[in-house]
Amino acid sequence: METNGEMGTTVSLLAPEAETLLRVRRVHRETQEIATYELCAEDGSELPPFTAGAHIDLHLPNGLVRSYSLCGDEAERDRYIIGVARSPDSRGGSTWIHDNLRTGDVVSISHPRNNFPLVDADRTILIAGGIGITPLLSMIRRLTAIGNDWTLHYAVRSHAHAAFSSDLRHLAGDRPERLQLHCDDESGSVLDLRGVVQRWTDTGADGVHMYCCGPGPMLTAFEAATAALPSNQRHIEYFTNATAAAKAGGFEVELAASGKTLMVPPGASILETLRNAGIDCMSSCTEGICGACETRVLGGEPDHRDVVLTDDERISNEVMMICCSGSKSRKLILDL
Ligand code: FES
Repeated sequence: METNGEMGTTVSLLAPEAETLLRVRRVHRETQEIATYELCAEDGSELPPFTAGAHIDLHLPNGLVRSYSLCGDEAERDRYIIGVARSPDSRGGSTWIHDNLRTGDVVSISHPRNNFPLVDADRTILIAGGIGITPLLSMIRRLTAIGNDWTLHYAVRSHAHAAFSSDLRHLAGDRPERLQLHCDDESGSVLDLRGVVQRWTDTGADGVHMYCCGPGPMLTAFEAATAALPSNQRHIEYFTNATAAAKAGGFEVELAASGKTLMVPPGASILETLRNAGIDCMSSCTEGICGACETRVLGGEPDHRDVVLTDDERISNEVMMICCSGSKSRKLILDL
């Protein structure tokens, strides 16, 4: 597992009103590399609601912002739980958290956002790789609570790397076959995703929804294996965006609220152009992963480069991520 649960590397651009201070109530080591952090309001009050699959941004004292999936139960309003994997590839987020964040510390977070929502379905198949289990764990809690069927295929390097084992066994209850653990060291190979997908679609694809969260190669294999499924039945949570941002510039952006028009120059994103003009916008990852900068499009044709929007949302051109996406038309009109 090469990802660490982080969804992007950024400097904080979030508007202050979007942030909340929470206290770390408990730190729990799940595996040698993965720890969970339980975050609560300092006065014990209810937290803003979230739905399974959502994430929050942590604003770290070193100036970085990192997004982490919530792995707790959406019915619990007094705490958020995140899982963080210490990664050798850490760009400062997971290492800082593991080395510095302790019980009693206060941390600034954004309100939850959900780019990976759970759909009500007859059969829900969840595929996780390593720390990619975190959003799927919150989904399993929800599916179990409402009595919907689910099966989890959970790929890890070895048994010792399987986080949340006791939670998952408890959630599987008297149907342990719902939990399919794949240990690379025991099988001598990575999870056969094509075989997993085929097993579930051979009996008919109708009513099956498949979710995948894990390292890049797993997501690529999942995309290929589910290519024949309708796009609204396959769901992927990305940690990185392999598509380059649109920075050719050379188009105008009209801001509907003020009527102001800005020219986006070559080498700049729409977000950077707005900020350079002194216009404050919500953003976080700046890579098209988190959805924080989603903006309504009132005119023109965006050049979508994010990994947040669904195929249908891209085609509708009703919204766009202004941190990475550009314009195919000479002018865009934005609801700003
Ligand atoms: S800031 Fe994360 S998608 Fe744009």
